[in-house]
Amino acid sequence: MKLRHHTKNDSRAIVQLFESVFANSEGESEGTLIGRLAIDLFEKTDECDLLNFVAEIDGQIIGSIFFSRLRFVDCIQAFLLAPVAVHSDHQRKGVGQALIRHGLNALRDEGASVALTYGDPEFYSKVGFRAISHETVMAPFELSQPEGWLGQSLVGNSIETLSGECTCVEAFREPAYW
Ligand SMILES: CC(C)(COP(=O)(O)OP(=O)(O)OC[C@H]1O[C@@H](n2cnc3c(N)ncnc32)[C@H](O)[C@@H]1OP(=O)(O)O)[C@@H](O)C(=O)NCCC(=O)NCCS
Repeated sequence: MKLRHHTKNDSRAIVQLFESVFANSEGESEGTLIGRLAIDLFEKTDECDLLNFVAEIDGQIIGSIFFSRLRFVDCIQAFLLAPVAVHSDHQRKGVGQALIRHGLNALRDEGASVALTYGDPEFYSKVGFRAISHETVMAPFELSQPEGWLGQSLVGNSIETLSGECTCVEAFREPAYW
């Protein structure tokens, strides 16, 4: 398996992957919603605010992950991990965790100091994420499941309190994602 940055030629296959994986796991409407999110992330985000990586086997994309910038009053380099998807035929073989670790290392190399995500604490704790409170790091929108707000420091042991509001990239400015 090869892990690499996406190229422009991959965008269509990546969108289709997110659509089909989320449709299979959570139903058609979720597939459509997350497929739309992937399109918006590619089309509406400045290059310097977005990272996408793919996992490839024999030239076929079987997994993908997005990281997009979060802005705080403190000028800290923070990124949101979301969404991530692994093709149904390849799940539970370590691909998701490998993609996440690869992405976090790339963020660290680029000088990012904090990674945040919103999802299943059991899964994300395997790759270093811990629950964080709204007081430590504010989320960009009100969270329907606050226990899913997770983070990790990329430079030290724990996340220091970040003051003030948090702004996400345009593609995520939709309450349905939160
Ligand atoms: C979640 C996902 C990205 C994980 O990728 P993966 O390659 O299957 O995961 P890995 O093999 O690296 O890690 C396996 C571990 O992840 C957890 N895990 C994987 N799929 C899970 C699921 N559907 N529910 C809960 N935990 C899950 C389990 O702890 C599992 O360990 P186990 O097999 O020992 O029980 C993948 O299953 C997926 O694409 N799911 C559908 C889309 C999704 O939910 N994305 C995440 C939200 S953005």
